[in-house]
Amino acid sequence: MPTFEHARRALVLVIVGGIVIDAAAMAAMAHRRKAGGPSTFTFYMHNEVYSSAVNNSGYTSVYSGGPPSLGIANPTNFGVRSTFEMPITSGAARNSSRIGTAQGMWLFDGRATGSLVLLHMFTATVSSGPHTGTLAIFGQEDESLRSRVLAVVGGTGDFLAARGAAESRLVAINSTLPATWTLSFRLRLYY
Ligand SMILES: *[C@@H]1O[C@H](CO)[C@@H](O)[C@H](O)[C@H]1NC(C)=O
Ligand SMILES: *[C@@H]1O[C@H](CO)[C@@H](O)[C@H](O)[C@H]1NC(C)=O
Ligand SMILES: *[C@@H]1O[C@H](CO)[C@@H](O)[C@H](O)[C@H]1NC(C)=O
Repeated sequence: MPTFEHARRALVLVIVGGIVIDAAAMAAMAHRRKAGGPSTFTFYMHNEVYSSAVNNSGYTSVYSGGPPSLGIANPTNFGVRSTFEMPITSGAARNSSRIGTAQGMWLFDGRATGSLVLLHMFTATVSSGPHTGTLAIFGQEDESLRSRVLAVVGGTGDFLAARGAAESRLVAINSTLPATWTLSFRLRLYY
């Protein structure tokens, strides 16, 4: 049968446990604050779409699966998806210093918008330069807008627990097959 003494000991353990947990959490938070990554970060992502018309071996994205046959026009590609693994660089030129790799997918998810709208979700793994780690980015790219703002929903390494906004712009495009384009991503980050 539980006694007053049992109850008192249990309470002491709970309190001590709580203090231990709080101290560990605070140490982790203090460490995180100290480690706080960059407040701004810019990179460029370079795409080359696979095209069966040229069988380009240097492709960085593939369309896979489409919408079911709708029997009606689908001018916004609604339901079409693409998987990508692209180099990311520190400068806008394709041949500027490579700092890592972006991997993820986009899905055309705008039907009635009149412009192409893509749900973009990817990780940018930054492996060289002053800051390394991954950034998780998620949001809509509406091609009718010059500037599109996506959410930075997390990070690892120097970007641990990053949140913020990623402004994306199309900086170059070549529509001749295989189509190629470059997007810039300017990030504002909070930790
Ligand atoms: C690309 O590869 C496919 C499959 O091997 C082939 O049928 C097609 O002719 C090739 N196209 C070109 C332009 O080489
Ligand atoms: C990058 O390419 C441009 C032309 O597209 C060229 O002028 C420049 O020299 C190249 N830079 C490097 C580092 O290769
Ligand atoms: C556009 O891409 C085509 C096909 O790869 C290439 O032949 C052409 O030189 C490119 N144009 C420019 C301006 O880079």
